[in-house]
Amino acid sequence: MALLSIPSLNTQYDSPKEIHTFLISHGIFFDQWKCDIVFDDDATQEEILAAYSKDLVPFMKNSGYKTADVISINATTENYSTLRTKFLAEHTHSEDEIRFFVDGKGLFWFNLDNVPVFNLLCEAGDLISVPAGTKHWFDAGEKNPFVKAIRVFMDVSAWVPDYTNSGIELKFSNFIMPSREN
Ligand code: LAC
Ligand code: NI
Repeated sequence: MALLSIPSLNTQYDSPKEIHTFLISHGIFFDQWKCDIVFDDDATQEEILAAYSKDLVPFMKNSGYKTADVISINATTENYSTLRTKFLAEHTHSEDEIRFFVDGKGLFWFNLDNVPVFNLLCEAGDLISVPAGTKHWFDAGEKNPFVKAIRVFMDVSAWVPDYTNSGIELKFSNFIMPSREN
């Protein structure tokens, strides 16, 4: 279940309805998909994509997205600190960034014009679509990261971060990823 935090206002929203309303008002799509299957660590990408096909296939068709894959990050991920550094610097993409959290958690940070910086804790069942051109960064935590997420792309070969080099993410590096019981 998602949690939205606006650190400078000391504000949090934890109801999916409020979060949806807040994000939609800022042009960010958010949804929640249900699935009762609990995947083993060795579940394949195909098994995971198949389990969500009921939601995933119509979603992709309606929006014209072409490919989907599954990204897994955990304590055994090689070079995690390098990967973390890449996600952690503010950037944009020329395409929407779509992530559905099958398991685990991570923080998506947003730096929109005329809106205080906010973050969305994404957990199992949460779908987020960061519009092309939106300044954002992501963190799965310094230690014991755990993310199992479906990624949806228009053109996977065009997937590159365009770094802003603003350094704004450093202002929020003391923020502690909220932890909650699901
Ligand atoms: C990405 C995220 C994590 O670009 O922002 O893959
Ligand atoms: Ni990104």
